[in-house]
Parts: sequence; C-alpha cells; structure tokens
Amino acid sequence: MIRDELTGGEGESMDSDVDAIVLVGGKGTRLRPLTETLPKPMLPIAGVPYLTHLLSRIRSAGVRHVIMGTSYKAEVFSEYYGDGSQLGLELEYVVEETPLGTGGAIGNVASLLRGDAALIFNGDILTGCDLTDLLATHRRTGADVSLHLTRVDDPRAFGCVPTEADGRVTAFLEKDPNPVTDQINAGTYVFNRSVIESIPTDRPVSVERETFPGLLESGALVVGHVDATYWRDLGKPSDFVTGSADLVRGIAPSDALPGPVGDALVLAGGTVADSARVTGGSVVDAGCEVAAGAVVDGSVLLPGARVAAGAVVRDSIVGRDAVIGKDSVLADAVIGDGVEIGARVELLHGIRVWPGTVIADGSVRFSADC
Ligand code: GTP
Repeated sequence: MIRDELTGGEGESMDSDVDAIVLVGGKGTRLRPLTETLPKPMLPIAGVPYLTHLLSRIRSAGVRHVIMGTSYKAEVFSEYYGDGSQLGLELEYVVEETPLGTGGAIGNVASLLRGDAALIFNGDILTGCDLTDLLATHRRTGADVSLHLTRVDDPRAFGCVPTEADGRVTAFLEKDPNPVTDQINAGTYVFNRSVIESIPTDRPVSVERETFPGLLESGALVVGHVDATYWRDLGKPSDFVTGSADLVRGIAPSDALPGPVGDALVLAGGTVADSARVTGGSVVDAGCEVAAGAVVDGSVLLPGARVAAGAVVRDSIVGRDAVIGKDSVLADAVIGDGVEIGARVELLHGIRVWPGTVIADGSVRFSADC
C-alpha cells in the first residue's frame, strides 16, 4: 500500500503535450539478491522506493500522464501505485511478456501516448537534471530526440557521446581507453512521438546500441543537453548505498524524502539505542532496531532489519528482517532478506548473502582469530 510519499507541492507548469515513459522492466541483476524480492525501481532508497523519488520529479515538471514499461515482477508496480491518483498522477502500465530491451520497451507504449513528445526515464538514475530545461532544449532545437548528458571524471568506464558546439550529437561511441569526450548518456531522454512509433516491437531492441546509432545514420537531429547537476546510476550496490546517503544528506535532490535532510534518516517505527551511532547518511527503516554500541555508517537498513549490540555496518545494505549478530562487522556487503548472521562474523569486500542464509557465530571471518 502506498504511503503518503510525495511531500512537494503541485507541479508548477502543466505540460499536457508531454507524456512520461519510465523503463522499469529490467531484472536488476547487479543488485541481486535484493532484486530477487523486489524489482530495482521499487527498492527503498532513502526511505521510499526509488520510483517515488522519480515520480515526484516528473510531477514537479508538470507532467501528469506516466506510462510504465514493465516486465520483471510487473505486478509489484501496479499493486503499489495503482492508478497514481494518490500521487497526483495518471499512471498506466504496459507489460512485456518477453523483455523487449530498453528500445523495444519505448516503442511498445506508443499506442498510449497522448502528446507529441515523451520524456523517457531509465528506472535507476538519481539526478537533479531540470526536466523543464531538458524539454526547453528539445523544443528550441527542434530535435527528433534530445538526451541528458552528464560529465564524468573517468569516462573510460562508459560509452561516450560527443556533440558539436550547438549540441548536435555526432556519435554514440563504445567504451574506449582514450575517450574523445567526458560526456556520457545520463539515461533521461525526450523523444518525438514519430520516433517512438518507428521503433520495432517484435524483438528486443537496445536504445543505446541500436536506436540511437540508427537515428544518427538516418540523419535525424539528436541533441545533447549537458548539465552539471547531481547524477548517479544506482545499478550497483556501491552506487545504491552512496545514492541513498546522498539523498539523506541532501546532496542528491528529492522532494520525496520522508524526513528532514541530515546525517541519518530514522523512519517511524525504527529504533536506535542511545549509545549506538547512526551516521554517514544511513537509513533505519520502519521496524529496524540498532542496539547499544552498534555503528551504522553510510548504510541502508531495510524494514525490520536488526543490528545487535556492538556490531558495525558500513557502506552496506541489510535486507528486510535480516539480523546482524553481536560484534559482527559488515563492510560493502549486501545482505538478503531474512538472513541471520550470528555474533563475531566479518563480511567484507562486496560480499552478497542470499535470502534465508544462516551464518553461525564466528564462523565466517576475514581476520585470523575467532
Ligand atoms: P542489470 O541487470 O543490473 O544490468 O539491471 P537492469 O536489468 O535494470 O538493466 P539496465 O540497468 O541496463 O536497465 C536500464 C533501465 O532500463 C532500468 O530502469 C531497467 O528496468 C530498464 N530495462 C532494461 N531492460 C528492459 C526491458 O527489457 N524492458 C523494460 N520495460 N525495461 C527494461
């Protein structure tokens, strides 16, 4: 059941010519095992599902009609958000029985479009990109497609997107040890309706690898909208915890944060002992308990997770109803739902523990002692 999650005011400027399409059908393999229970866009980040932060941005831009392209665990989205009226939105869901990829998913919703253009979102990007500005760029340039580009410190890890001085995209380049630009595809687009209608839907299509290069080949005008706002892809556990902490501390903007900006977010029904320390933008969700002397730093405790006395949890995600035993240490760990970790266990360096696992007292350590 949806909580009253959107605290922001009504959208400033109703843009009825624009629909929003949100791509939420991926399996989220890099966030396993958390995505075995919930699809990635529904994982709570800073206290509410990621998607609630995104929907609040969409509403703030004045767009009301939102179509979700679903596939993996499709029912979870409609069960949670319903028709969207509680968020002041009109939500529709399209289910792909066989995943159509990031391009096919866009083409697949064409029949539901009402306007002449659509804002399109990957369902796992945290950004402050001003959607009104992005739309203004699209209208001003007369582009067929506009895309948000962000500059990254190390573009070697990404495909890059060079542009001319006027913003026209000249290429979509694969990862390269010597990239020609630090601009990368930031996962938010504006597509004209005619482009959406031209994407095949009888087979999987990648928007990044097929649709964008194909548009350039056909002579379409593709424009890059470069900005310097906050940007993070939440696809990996380390980015997920950093993104959550950035939301809690107000570094990443959102008006769906269910509490004041600060060093920690303790939601109603979460308890923290006086001598425990919860810091670094950590989230203690409903039903969680952090016992005496425990430290939770830069981490996400999902609903019902318990951290026993003296335990240390750093830069980690602890799944629903999981238990971290006395004096255990977690760092860069992903702990699945319902996992029971005994006392004096050490789980470090990106370890992932699958739901239902029970780890006995002192039985897994990095240190030589026990
Ligand atoms: P990984 O498996 O960890 O790579 O995650 P993912 O499945 O989410 O893939 P990726 O991060 O590349 O996807 C980017 C966005 O597109 C996410 O919001 C996905 O939910 C969405 N997406 C990916 N593939 C599909 C698809 O086949 N159909 C739909 N509707 N959405 C998709």
